[in-house]
Amino acid sequence: MSWRSFPKAELHLHFEGAAPPAFIRGLAKEKSVDLTGVFDERGSYAFRDFPHFLQVYEAATQVLQTPRDYQRLTRAVLEECAENGVIYAETFLSPDFCGGRDLHAWRDYLHAIQEEADRAEREMGITLRGIVTCIRHFGPDKARETAICAAETAGDWITGFGMGGNEAIGRQGDFIWAFDCAREAGLRLTTHAGEFGGPDSVWQAINDLRVERIGHGVRAIEDPRLVETLAETGVVLETCPGSNVTLGLYRDFASHPIARLRDAGVNVTISTDDPPFFHTTMTREFEALEQAFGWTADDFAELTKTAINAAFCDEGTRARLL
Ligand code: ADE
Ligand code: ZN
Repeated sequence: MSWRSFPKAELHLHFEGAAPPAFIRGLAKEKSVDLTGVFDERGSYAFRDFPHFLQVYEAATQVLQTPRDYQRLTRAVLEECAENGVIYAETFLSPDFCGGRDLHAWRDYLHAIQEEADRAEREMGITLRGIVTCIRHFGPDKARETAICAAETAGDWITGFGMGGNEAIGRQGDFIWAFDCAREAGLRLTTHAGEFGGPDSVWQAINDLRVERIGHGVRAIEDPRLVETLAETGVVLETCPGSNVTLGLYRDFASHPIARLRDAGVNVTISTDDPPFFHTTMTREFEALEQAFGWTADDFAELTKTAINAAFCDEGTRARLL
């Protein structure tokens, strides 16, 4: 079965991480930015491990300098999503990369992205929502500024707040102020946890940050009581199997815990994280999951429904998508 046109909803997609390498190279040429070390000899993003991945990611963002650059990025990303059957996507956007956490600049970036996203919705039938994201290894002070940018622009298509970055640095609880600020502004919450951090990081995400979704969360499988809690409370995992395999967390799709978590009653969903970095697309994720676990159209329809039910969108949008 070809999964390309099968309807998909993607909840975990880093905007800069979705930039096609050719797009970044094109901007680098236009702006005379030296990106030595970002690409391998075949033109793909090149990284050794997770910390190096984060460095390469940040190096590539140097070419994204203006709202207009992000407008062009929006087109490139949404075209790729729509070509893979994605009808709804949520993307992580960071004021760290869009204007350096300056509120006026941030509004300009959001406006440019929204304009292009509206066009994509009309022309390609794909709906985009934004999750404003602080970056853990930039520290709690920058996260506060990010949360203020998020709170000031909440509503409309900015519907969530989250945290990515290096989970090995600090604790989830260092960011309570930022998450409380975002919650008070009406934003829905998610954080990366249980990717490179163990179950303790997921417990902290639930207890300290009180998020309703977890980015990755797969290492919850190492703690049966945590798996039970996730199943009972309905916290949703934004699972990105291809990302985890490429970054060396699991040997292959068959060893990935997504099927065991799902069998235990945890709400799992499927996303690509940073697709060109991990040589994946939503179609490839579906193909690999079919191959590893024998999942069928019924399974994938259920996973899409879980994602739409967990989407940070209003009820009218949800009803239209279901
Ligand atoms: N930023 C981009 N991709 C990420 C990932 N997989 N984990 C944490 N932060 C990220
Ligand atoms: Zn991620």
